[in-house]
Amino acid sequence: MTLLSPAISESTRVLDVPTHDPDHVRGAMGRFPTGVVALCAIVDGRRVGMVASSFSAGASYSPPMVMFSVQESSTTWPVLHRAERIGVSVLGSHQSDACMQLASRSRDRFEGLATTVTAEGAVLVDGAAMWFDCDVYSCVPAGDHSVVVMRVHSMNIDDEVAPLIYHERRFHGLREIDGGRA
Ligand SMILES: Cc1cc2nc3c(=O)[nH]c(=O)nc-3n(C[C@H](O)[C@H](O)[C@H](O)COP(=O)(O)O)c2cc1C
Repeated sequence: MTLLSPAISESTRVLDVPTHDPDHVRGAMGRFPTGVVALCAIVDGRRVGMVASSFSAGASYSPPMVMFSVQESSTTWPVLHRAERIGVSVLGSHQSDACMQLASRSRDRFEGLATTVTAEGAVLVDGAAMWFDCDVYSCVPAGDHSVVVMRVHSMNIDDEVAPLIYHERRFHGLREIDGGRA
């Protein structure tokens, strides 16, 4: 039985990525290009942080909100979640090493990394493309992740720094295509 009107041609393409296999799903979803942010704060007197490519800016414009999803297995998020404010730094194209350091399970995530701390304890990575000072608005369980929505209290941009792009587990820079205005 066809579900389409005759005016719409029927595609023979099958959506056959196995969705029951988390590794396949992760690999396939990695085709979607994203930026990468560092989420950092002072908790119990020390800097705590992790990175997230699931970040999305503009979850809301009024009031401004951003969001990301965090793995249920994360050991850092339960600590970071306790912070009064969380600094979100949109990493620049020159910060792929900093990104891997901030995600590392074995290295000191902040050794040699220049940061700025706000009065409320949000930690911002120096040299990033954009920064948000946030607190957690909601945290909704979603499968093996939780979707975290954060209120933006203030933000800043460095026009001179191009954002880091993450695609298929590799880092890239931005390149505008000819006539690329949307
Ligand atoms: C490029 C990149 C993107 C990542 N994106 C996410 C993400 O969106 N959500 C998440 O929970 N972890 C993400 N991670 C993993 C975390 O940054 C961190 O490594 C992980 O939470 C393990 O550390 P933890 O146990 O200290 O939390 C990403 C790691 C890398 C390198």
